[in-house]
Amino acid sequence: MIRHFLRDDDLTPAEQAAILDLAARLKQTPYDEKPLAGPKTIAVLFDKPTLRTQSSFVAGIAELGGFPMVIDGNLAQIGVRESIADTARVLGRTASAIVWRTFDQSRLQEMADNAGVPVVNALTDQFHPCQTLADLQTIREHRGDLKGQTLTFLGDSACNMSLSYLLSGATAGMHVRVSGPAGYEPDTELLKKAQQIAATTGGSADFVADPVDAATGADVIATDTWISMGKESEAGDRAEIFEPWQLNQSLLGKGADGAIVLHCLPAYRGKEITAEVIDGPQSVVWDEAENRRHAQKAILTWLVS
Ligand code: CP
Repeated sequence: MIRHFLRDDDLTPAEQAAILDLAARLKQTPYDEKPLAGPKTIAVLFDKPTLRTQSSFVAGIAELGGFPMVIDGNLAQIGVRESIADTARVLGRTASAIVWRTFDQSRLQEMADNAGVPVVNALTDQFHPCQTLADLQTIREHRGDLKGQTLTFLGDSACNMSLSYLLSGATAGMHVRVSGPAGYEPDTELLKKAQQIAATTGGSADFVADPVDAATGADVIATDTWISMGKESEAGDRAEIFEPWQLNQSLLGKGADGAIVLHCLPAYRGKEITAEVIDGPQSVVWDEAENRRHAQKAILTWLVS
């Protein structure tokens, strides 16, 4: 059976833990393991802007002995020039796996349904599971075993990072709190799904309206831009609405001793996070950015082997 990584809960708790172990090993010896030797081709497609995702996949695939075939979504016009299904059938004859950043999750699902090779979500409107895998690796490095730790996300709780934290954190047995203004709550069904997973792992998943309550005692405090891709026209309104959820020294001070700060980047200092916090001693955002490469190498190794 072909496995895909389309959303965080595509991995069982045991699979997630094994992939995080592999990511840690690959970080120690980045050039020793060549599961893509051949080289096997991995198609890497972007319908939206990127820096970290493109660079980490390209470098990581090369380190695994493979060839990263980068395809500009603006040129390919997937779903416009030809159907997603036909694109998938063509790429599946060329590549050993497909990595795609696109819009609605249904586009990615259609690719996976027709490609005949593993498909990896490099960000959709709904989920960003490669990012949260790297985030879990970063938390393990700085705070140890994930089980029982509290992860708080501040900001747009309906956004892809919030939803991916709910699913991935619950899978890891963490206590996940997402907090944002009214009207920006996580999808009800998705929250319920995270709670069902958490019930099996000893974790929890909750929406906490008050940002101070959400941050209090947290081992990890994460945020993301208030203006997700595609929401640029709402920038003015959002800056005012989200201001109480800004990750500043006062909110960080509510966290546990030694709490760490995550931000998937790009960051907007003075908006969702202050310069004092992102450039301060509790911030681990550069480790987090580096771990994209290691975590993605691990998921590709697992899927292709
Ligand atoms: N965090 C992240 O996915 O970065 P890019 O949008 O630059 O790829």
